[in-house]
Amino acid sequence: MRKQIVSGNWKMNLDASQSIELIEALKEKSLAADVSVAIATPAIHLESAVKQTENSAISVAAQNMHQATSGAFTGEISATMLKSIGVNTILLGHSERRAYFHETDELLAEKVNTALENELEIIFCFGEELDERKKDRHFDVVSEQLRKALFHLDASQWKHIVLAYEPVWAIGTGETASPAQAQEMHAHIRSVLAAQYDHALAQSVSVLYGGSVKPANAQEIFAQPDVDGGLIGGASLKADDFAAIVNAF
Ligand code: 13P
Repeated sequence: MRKQIVSGNWKMNLDASQSIELIEALKEKSLAADVSVAIATPAIHLESAVKQTENSAISVAAQNMHQATSGAFTGEISATMLKSIGVNTILLGHSERRAYFHETDELLAEKVNTALENELEIIFCFGEELDERKKDRHFDVVSEQLRKALFHLDASQWKHIVLAYEPVWAIGTGETASPAQAQEMHAHIRSVLAAQYDHALAQSVSVLYGGSVKPANAQEIFAQPDVDGGLIGGASLKADDFAAIVNAF
């Protein structure tokens, strides 16, 4: 049985006191026990978020890290630093990192390796842009993203990888992939994994959907057989909405 996961991605939102308040509010909520719940906070809040969520069902993830473990990279944060404050999960490949910070799949392959060497669990994000979908290239684009960033891995390393399909046109736009579009792509992702590795591996990897997931649409998206949860942006900034999404399976 695959793990069901809901992770919030706070992006660059909330100051220190707002972060503390939101986590306190989340800790008050009753969250489905069979769902793994994570929040990816801005880097500056990670350490306090880790302390605040000790003895709770919520785990804390980072939104980015550098591919080197130390060195002259002003302003950057390494995998070893994250581990040293108790962060065990990292988002890699978010479309905003790709678009605004020029992260390529080749660079992401390096970050993936560094994260795994440092025993971080990875939520790997990928997805097509609107014009790629309009040109009917979305399946190829997604296959290539997976191939370039992840297919150098051994089958044994995939137990540390969660995939998050996030069509760029659905992020922060209020436009969601329909449940059928999400299911179609998630099934495609499993078929690509099965071709590269094998059926058992393809069936074992949790594949999340991200892009305008809200309490009102989470249930029908999560009900799709190949959707194992969600990566939630805007709606993860409100405790009521995020809890409702966690409880939408
Ligand atoms: P929204 O839920 O705000 O569309 O963001 C999705 C996302 O990018 C999560 O990583």
